[in-house]
Amino acid sequence: MADTLTKLAYQTFQDGKNYFGLGHKALATQLRLWFKPELKVKIEGITPELLAEMTRRRDELLQRDWQDAEDGIYPESLLFDNPWEDFLRYYPALWLDMPKIWERVEHKQYQSFDDDIDTRHFPQYYLQNFHYQTDGYLSDDSANLYDLQVELLFNGTADAMRRRVLAPLKSGLQAVKTAKAGSQSDVMEVTNAHQIKVLDVACGTGRTLKLLRDTFPAASLYGVDLSPAYLRKANQLLSQGRQTLPQLMQGQGESLPYRDNYFDGLTCVFLFHELPGPIRQQVIEECFRVTKPGGLLVICDSIQQIDTPELEAVMASFPAIFHEPYYRDYTQDDLTQRLASVGFEDITTAVHFVSKYWVAHKPT
Ligand SMILES: C[S@@+](CC[C@H](N)C(=O)[O-])C[C@H]1O[C@@H](n2cnc3c(N)ncnc32)[C@H](O)[C@@H]1O
Repeated sequence: MADTLTKLAYQTFQDGKNYFGLGHKALATQLRLWFKPELKVKIEGITPELLAEMTRRRDELLQRDWQDAEDGIYPESLLFDNPWEDFLRYYPALWLDMPKIWERVEHKQYQSFDDDIDTRHFPQYYLQNFHYQTDGYLSDDSANLYDLQVELLFNGTADAMRRRVLAPLKSGLQAVKTAKAGSQSDVMEVTNAHQIKVLDVACGTGRTLKLLRDTFPAASLYGVDLSPAYLRKANQLLSQGRQTLPQLMQGQGESLPYRDNYFDGLTCVFLFHELPGPIRQQVIEECFRVTKPGGLLVICDSIQQIDTPELEAVMASFPAIFHEPYYRDYTQDDLTQRLASVGFEDITTAVHFVSKYWVAHKPT
């Protein structure tokens, strides 16, 4: 009975976020048409069948999310975790930012940053107003709006998609511990293993680290990102409560500031579609270098053409609506081949809703 009620509460919670996301997007589109009719974006191929397919995939994702919590992979409380206070506080700012976005779209200014932002120390490919965000990833205002924007983009399923890295990571880490313990009878359950080290590459505002911390409360967690503003935001989120603070560091995915063979597990969520191809390769090389032999990397990113050609219209609409200069190239990039080329083995992939996952192991 308690389970049925919790499941119902979860479904209602997700439905609420879904309707809110849809309503927000409809209103935002209407406003843009009123104020800037010349910016109308023509999206083709969004048929009723495609929308039904998207609903089916979303339902499947949520069912899996619920099931993984039921199976004890992570606490049920994570299903309801939501930064309400932040969302309420920053939602008006999101609307106030819209005219600036329209201006940038109108004048095709995709590399514009406030004068007081020092852009000199960042790679050129990174200096973009991804999603048309004001100041790209380089201001506190952008960091404050980011989670809300992603939540609205995915109609409330962003964390459910992030959580899909947890089951493969947990079973991979468990295998590492079991192999190390050999024939000893006291194989420690990985959730309570203190020696486990996990790095989240491009941790952004810390959502994945929060999920990791609730799933592996005793593990040592690390987060690296290029954006000082997003790291400040992550620090804020992760400082709430009494749990251990992950070690956050500013750094580049393509030259990770860690020793060789240091981490048991790595996660990387929603980064690769925002990188040019050669940089994707370098990040993968670096992930391999810092992973311990026997450890694993779990990637979550956008779906790709090879797995879901039937969702081509969805993939085409993303860079048409948002500034995503490397996305089309990413959707055709063979990351499995890239992972294998640096030495990862036993590479598997999966698709959940509009995300694709790679699990790759470093040989022992
Ligand atoms: C789309 S966000 C994803 C953030 C987070 N992982 C999430 O799940 O929301 C992309 C993040 O990657 C970071 N980033 C982009 N290029 C990077 C690089 N070369 N090295 C490290 N971080 C990078 C950005 O600063 C930003 O925080």
